[in-house]
Amino acid sequence: MDFAAQLPTRTVAESRSEMTEIILPNDANTLGNLLGGRLMHFIDLVGAMAAYRHARTHVVTASMDHIDFIAPVHVGDLLILKSSVNRAFNTSMEVGVKVWVENTIAGIHRHVASAYLTFVAVDSQGRRVPVPRLQPEAAEEKQRYEDAARRRELRQKELERKRQAKPRETAMAGTVRPD
Ligand SMILES: CC(C)(COP(=O)(O)OP(=O)(O)OC[C@H]1O[C@@H](n2cnc3c(N)ncnc32)[C@H](O)[C@@H]1OP(=O)(O)O)[C@@H](O)C(=O)NCCC(=O)NCCS
Repeated sequence: MDFAAQLPTRTVAESRSEMTEIILPNDANTLGNLLGGRLMHFIDLVGAMAAYRHARTHVVTASMDHIDFIAPVHVGDLLILKSSVNRAFNTSMEVGVKVWVENTIAGIHRHVASAYLTFVAVDSQGRRVPVPRLQPEAAEEKQRYEDAARRRELRQKELERKRQAKPRETAMAGTVRPD
């Protein structure tokens, strides 16, 4: 039986999620700016919301792509995060997250970061499960859908390169490598 064919098809709108956070001193570094790791935590959360809404099951974060911190976020600012699924594959989904800061006094919005995350759908036992297909509708959604396939190819090449490099790296005992 073709289980994938029985899965529903979902739109981008069905996964669309948003989160707003006020930045407090506990989120900040010694200069009063939002910590990068805290921002990544918020990105992971809002990304997972979109993945949950698409998959309607548990999801785990498989990866977060390169992320640039474009502008600082200060204590007292509002952080606005938006996410949606760009493309669903077999058991994984690419989610795009865009983050803005709103200065509460001036009311000005500024783009501060963007990220692509991959989530994998799992059942309550942690076993991977297929995800519904994504049906992009608007031109922008179709563009993101196409781009997501290209990024997946790059990720898979990089994973393969790391797998191939593993035996050589194990031999380099004591050398700390980020991958
Ligand atoms: C993510 C995870 C489920 C992948 O499991 P795996 O056995 O390595 O699975 P596979 O290599 O067969 O890949 C399964 C799917 O995940 C995708 N995937 C695996 N590693 C990935 C990575 N690093 N980046 C993006 N996608 C990845 C594969 O492309 C595949 O997608 P598809 O089913 O849509 O074709 C597993 O590595 C895991 O459980 N990691 C820990 C997740 C976690 O705890 N996250 C929280 C942060 S600590």
